[in-house]
Amino acid sequence: MAAGATIAPLDRVHEEGSVLCTVVDVHGVEEEVIVVPCGDGVRAWHNRCTHEDFRLDRGFGVIYRQGEIVCAKHGSTFDTCSGYCDNGDAKDTTLPEVEVACEDGDVVLADDAYTFLHEGGLDDGDDGDDMPGSTSHIGF
Ligand code: FES
Repeated sequence: MAAGATIAPLDRVHEEGSVLCTVVDVHGVEEEVIVVPCGDGVRAWHNRCTHEDFRLDRGFGVIYRQGEIVCAKHGSTFDTCSGYCDNGDAKDTTLPEVEVACEDGDVVLADDAYTFLHEGGLDDGDDGDDMPGSTSHIGF
């Protein structure tokens, strides 16, 4: 599925707080992406802290504190809408963005640099186990 593939219903991202999915770039490198609410819409970011490559969603949803994405390793927080971090070890960095759009109530991939593979993390591909992807979130 190329850009334009449906990732998840928009309502679900807002209800559940985040949706984890896996995409592949033009070089064949698979990348986890978190789709998170931003106002009435959504944004999508690489699922890796800019400090030490730590997964922001480790399979249990994104952690939020005061509306910001929290890195569980050292506690830096990232703005859900800009991806920018103004604190802690990841200060003055921004999460790499993956472009998404809202179409007819769904979140769709809108980034020509990536192809949508599946919902869930790298290890959640279609291996026949029918395990659900990560959709819950944790808040403080
Ligand atoms: S790994 Fe995220 S703040 Fe250090």
